[in-house]
This record gives sequence, C-alpha cells and structure tokens, in this order.
Amino acid sequence: MENLNKTLDKIDPQRMREEAEENCRKSISTNPRYNWIREQFPDDYPYRYELYSKHLLVFKAGSGDNEGGCMAGNRVGETMTGACEMTCHLTGKYPDWWEGKRFDEPIEAWAAGTTAETTRDIMQTALLGRLTAEPGGDPNDPIGLGTGMIPLPCIRSTRPLLGSLRDAIDTVYVWHVSGGTSILSFKSFEQGRPSFEGTSKHVVWLDEECPYDIYLECLMRTMTTDGIIYATADGPNGDGPTTAKSERAMPYDGATG
Ligand SMILES: Nc1ncnc2c1ncn2[C@@H]1O[C@H](COP(=O)(O)OP(=O)(O)OP(=O)(O)O)[C@@H](O)[C@H]1O
Ligand SMILES: [Mg+2]
Repeated sequence: MENLNKTLDKIDPQRMREEAEENCRKSISTNPRYNWIREQFPDDYPYRYELYSKHLLVFKAGSGDNEGGCMAGNRVGETMTGACEMTCHLTGKYPDWWEGKRFDEPIEAWAAGTTAETTRDIMQTALLGRLTAEPGGDPNDPIGLGTGMIPLPCIRSTRPLLGSLRDAIDTVYVWHVSGGTSILSFKSFEQGRPSFEGTSKHVVWLDEECPYDIYLECLMRTMTTDGIIYATADGPNGDGPTTAKSERAMPYDGATG
C-alpha cells in the first residue's frame, strides 16, 4: 500500500493530460485519414494538381480576375478543384506551385450550392468529409469530420445548420496560418437573393449554375475585400449567368476549362 501511494504521488494529472493531448494532436496531424489534401496531392502523386494544366489555369485565373469559372465534363473534378481552392484560402497554406490569388489574412467565405441538401452532400462533403456512414455505403470510405479537403487539425470548430437536415453544417471555423480564424458558411441558391445580402466576403464559391440575381449579389459581397468569386459547373447548362461568364473567361473546349 505504501508503495502504491508513492507511485500515485509521482503522477501529475496535469502532465498526463498534456501528454495525452499532445499524442492525440501528433497522431491526428500525421494520420492520412485527416490530412486528405496532403495525402491526396503529395509531390509524387500521379494525379496531383500540379500535372493538370487545365486545373492550374482555373487556380491561376484568381490572380488576375475577381471572377473565375471552371466548366468541365461530368466527373472530371471541378468540384474537388473548387474545394482545393477554398481550402488554400481558408488555411492560408498554398502549395509551392500555386499561381493563383493569395490572401495573407484569415478570410470570410461562402460555399453555395443548389439546395441545402446538395450543398451538404457535395460541397460540405468535399471540404469537411462525410460525417456519418450511409446505409449500404462502402465500408472503406473514410467517415467523420476532417476526412474532406480541409485537414482536421485546421478545423477549429463547426456550427450545425438549424433544422432537420441531418449532419448539415452552417459554418466552419478554420485555423489560418497567421494564427487567426477563417470563417466559411454554407449556403444554397434556394434561400434566394435576399439571404446573400449585406455582408462582405473574400471568397465565394458557387457549385453548379446559379440564378443571375444571386450571382450579382455574391459578386457585390467581394467588392470591398478585393475578393474573388468562382463557379464550378458542368458544361453549358441553360442560359444561366455563371455559364455565360465562365465561357467568356475560359472557353469551354469539351474537356476541363
Ligand atoms: N486530382 C484528383 N485525383 C484523384 N481523384 C480525383 C481528383 N480530382 C477529383 N477526383 C475524384 O474524381 C471524382 C469526381 O470529382 P468531382 O466530384 O470533383 O467531379 P465533378 O466534375 O465535380 O463531378 P460532377 O460532374 O458530378 O459535378 C471524385 O471521386 C473525386 O474524388
Ligand atoms: Mg461537381
């Protein structure tokens, strides 16, 4: 008993807690599951963005113009391109090959899709990962916050979307390299133009064709921040403004543009 007491005396609960936290931090920062962008696009990765000239053009467009567009065929990666750009701006960590727009300070951003549901399923999943497993889903798919493009160690906190849409996130707070916090809110076109009024944003990402009035409202939000707005969409789809503007900025050539 005396020996046990001596051993217990040596235990410092505060130190144990700190060690456990440090171990946890280390394992998260090196775990590929939570560092998708680093694992997905390392220097020797055969499909890394550095080798995709058309994707690089999309990124580069942000350095010269405040409006950008990536229009491409189905499943060639325009959404992931949009998520990659957003992740770089939110975290302030730009790859060596980055020739696009740079923000040195934490940013405020929007990612908006067609409906709240598609925004959750497509943009939120691309950026934050799929939060819970789907029945019948591939058991090998990584599940949980931080399994998307934004590395888990960079995710400071999230605020859930009020309502009944399961797993939907309203806002995510992201550590920026400067030590500050970037803020990304998810929105949807079905909310209508008024819900896009009033605030200023550094970056607005629109996935798929959006109504013209919403596009103009979003463009306005970037006017006082020297910000950028970019859209990722399939090939020409109706007569929407995003398509028209994207076509002018970067002609559709049947591949990625
Ligand atoms: N550079 C890449 N390397 C490897 N896989 C990639 C890359 N970019 C995208 N992918 C994969 O390709 C698939 C399609 O990507 P994404 O959803 O971005 O395409 P999309 O063109 O937006 O599709 P859709 O036409 O359905 O909107 C996804 O499974 C994604 O993980
Ligand atoms: Mg897409």
